[in-house]
Amino acid sequence: MIKTEILGTNPTDIAKAAAMLQRGDLLGLPTETVYGLGADARNAQAVAGIFAAKGRPSFNPLIVHVSDFAMAQQIGGFDDVMSHLARNLWPGPLTLVVPVRPSRVADLVTAGQDTVAIRVPAHPVAHAILTAFGGPIAAPSANPSGQVSATTAAHVMAGLGGKVAGVVDAGPCAIGLESTIVSGAQGGTILRSGGVSAETLAALLGHDLANKTTPSAITAPGQLASHYAPKGTVRLNVHSPEPDETYVGFGAMDCDFNLSEKGDLTEAAANLFATLHALNAQDAAKIAVAPVPETGLGAAINDRLRRAAAPR
Ligand code: TXA
Ligand code: MG
Repeated sequence: MIKTEILGTNPTDIAKAAAMLQRGDLLGLPTETVYGLGADARNAQAVAGIFAAKGRPSFNPLIVHVSDFAMAQQIGGFDDVMSHLARNLWPGPLTLVVPVRPSRVADLVTAGQDTVAIRVPAHPVAHAILTAFGGPIAAPSANPSGQVSATTAAHVMAGLGGKVAGVVDAGPCAIGLESTIVSGAQGGTILRSGGVSAETLAALLGHDLANKTTPSAITAPGQLASHYAPKGTVRLNVHSPEPDETYVGFGAMDCDFNLSEKGDLTEAAANLFATLHALNAQDAAKIAVAPVPETGLGAAINDRLRRAAAPR
């Protein structure tokens, strides 16, 4: 165990955070999607520390965070389709999987594959850290492997306190769901649903993208069926919960937790992981969730809920 320093967002603390990364230490950092567990993507030792801290199987590749498209192009090769997405949706909750250039990031980041996942986060504090550090930051979500993603600094501390040098606290994440992952294969293939909807991508490219987000097809970890699992069992699409169930609602209804009383999918996404953390905090043993529409961000919300409900 090491002492974990909680850092603010003032210039002195941002400089401290950048120095931790330069030293090869691990840093919990905010993004607009979820908190990341960051390390210098060029430092194999530091990247190995991420896997150790998360207890994550080491064959899972990591997302590389960069400050802008120019830095992204130094690490990966972007064809016309991927450039179009990058120019229109970065900074933002979109990760692009492109061919990796040799020797730009540690092999451990790509798990030895010939592609690399890259994104430019939209969070001003993430941007400040990336600029102060001046290099690429490898960062998976800042939660122990298989557990619910962290959307506050307190979630990061609960899961990884004592294992990281610092956590930069910038308050709760605005989006609250991981980024959408798109690979360049087949003119654009969605590998994970997330903060950018399939509808937005289709509107931008003028066609629907191939979709490999069904659990059987994914080659990425969100694929582990029980990923995002809370401690209790989860039942989905429930209209009338049993008396012993804790009821998570959507829209105007009687329930214990409501993802969005207004029935707003963006608000529900932002509340999702915090709600799962809150259910854990009160040791909810049986959880029932009301139906959430499958449109827009609802696809990503339902994906996470199905994984939370999967047998384990
Ligand atoms: O919003 C997010 O994406 C957050 C924040 C911190 O940026 N990060 C995040 O990272 O969700 P993580 O490690 O929990 O999920 C990264 C996903 C994994 O499913 C991984 O397998 C996939 O990205 N991935 C990384 N590199 C890949 C590659 N070369 N090909 C296919 N999938 C890849
Ligand atoms: Mg994750």
